[in-house]
Amino acid sequence: MIYAIEAALFLHLLGVAVWVGGMVFAHFCLRPALADLSPQLRLPLWEAVFGRFFSWAAAAVLLILFSGGFLLSRFGGAHALWPLHTMAGLGVVMMLLFGHIRFALFPRVRRAVQTQNWPDGARAVGVVRQIVLVNIVLGVVTIGVAVLAR
Ligand code: HEM
Repeated sequence: MIYAIEAALFLHLLGVAVWVGGMVFAHFCLRPALADLSPQLRLPLWEAVFGRFFSWAAAAVLLILFSGGFLLSRFGGAHALWPLHTMAGLGVVMMLLFGHIRFALFPRVRRAVQTQNWPDGARAVGVVRQIVLVNIVLGVVTIGVAVLAR
């Protein structure tokens, strides 16, 4: 396939744009805008936002993983340059953190909203916020490392 590498890079960058861009929007725009709402309004809203965004993020993660794996195989595999291995390592850490948010914290937020346990819901959303910030920083570092790979 002549354009396989270009197509994979296109999908890779699309996934990065959706995932990292979505986290930046949620953390720096949506979160401060909702901060003054009462937990009774804020937490159901976060649950609805998370439910939608995490599906997009999961699709982006799969896209990044498969396109990145394919690209790595074309750029030397185990013998690829160190920035590519660093990108893969940081990417996997980001994906594990996302998995923790999606499969441990999000169900907690959901349960808290269903049972109207606002303090626990607020705690879980607070942890999501911290991990998302870590993932934004890792995402930006990973993009920097990707540029070093050129
Ligand atoms: C499983 C994880 C990942 C693997 C195996 C992987 C692998 C790769 C490979 C082999 C390339 C091609 C490099 C080149 O064109 O010279 C690439 C490009 C790129 N990756 Fe990743 N990647 C992963 C995750 C990520 C993540 C999480 C981000 C950002 C948050 C990211 C950002 C980029 C960017 C910006 C490029 C374009 C670099 C350029 O063309 O200058 N990657 N990736």
